[in-house]
Amino acid sequence: MIVSRTVADLRTVRSKLKGRVGFVPTMGALHDGHTSLMRETLAKADHLIVSIFVNPTQFDRPSDLESYPRDEADDLAGCKAAGAAIVFVPPAEEMYANGRNQLTAVTVADLTTTMCGRTRPGHFDGVAMVVTKLFNIVQPDVAAFGQKDYQQLAVIRRMTEDLNFPIEILGVETGRNPDGLAISSRNRLLTAEGRIRGRSLSAGLVAAHLAFGEGERSGPRLESIARGIIERAGLRVDYAECVDPHTLQLVEHVGDRGAVLAVAAFDGDVRLIDNLRLDHELPSGLVKPL
Ligand code: PAJ
Repeated sequence: MIVSRTVADLRTVRSKLKGRVGFVPTMGALHDGHTSLMRETLAKADHLIVSIFVNPTQFDRPSDLESYPRDEADDLAGCKAAGAAIVFVPPAEEMYANGRNQLTAVTVADLTTTMCGRTRPGHFDGVAMVVTKLFNIVQPDVAAFGQKDYQQLAVIRRMTEDLNFPIEILGVETGRNPDGLAISSRNRLLTAEGRIRGRSLSAGLVAAHLAFGEGERSGPRLESIARGIIERAGLRVDYAECVDPHTLQLVEHVGDRGAVLAVAAFDGDVRLIDNLRLDHELPSGLVKPL
């Protein structure tokens, strides 16, 4: 496995790979969710490239960037075990040669007016910018993103289409802990009690899914079911939004197009997100309460 730290070096080693190249961009602190992205990508490609870069431009809170978990040695071991051919670990100066003086922006409109796009100003501009840079540098044939970040996946799919990147985008199912909590690098920052409170996000989504199964179709009412469970667990809800699965606009009444319920909540300073497609079967990692 080659570890590359500069754009020039990455381009050289990448050009020597023959066949289909798969790519999994990450911010490190790798976990089983990342590993499943790598596995699904390798099933569609001959070689795997992983990037590890804590992208400063997508953080809307300086304390979040500061506290974001970093463990390069462990991450490199994880990439090796997953079968990566190349890991790209650039320093910030390498990705942003002009520092804060970026004159170019990549903005995906409409899909970013709700959910994290509304409560984290600038976040998706940062994501779209860094993924555009990484796509141009790595030049993959296929790249994987997790459904846990539903809005991010939608933004990347649309950006790939709009900018004609010749890249197949894979959307990978959310990996969960046995108790339902979606796996996230930020879970490492939770206290033992916070870890238990964090279960309320998936519990709230499952309760709304249950209500949907029993015929509830009001977006606001489905939202308030999830919100109530998360708030009662002691978390501060950032949003609970019932949105159209394609446009990501708020849905008053869920019709034939179905709906995604998306939630974000703070336990202290740690922000957790999760989402669930209400009109699909409950995924295997989530169980209905008895
Ligand atoms: P990061 O949070 O490290 O996530 C990297 C990829 O792993 C993303 O596509 C994310 O959706 C996916 N992922 C995270 N947790 C997951 C889980 N429990 N199950 C399935 N997939 C999961 O997302 C980012 O980094 C950044 O925004 C990035 C795309 C790298 C751009 O900086």
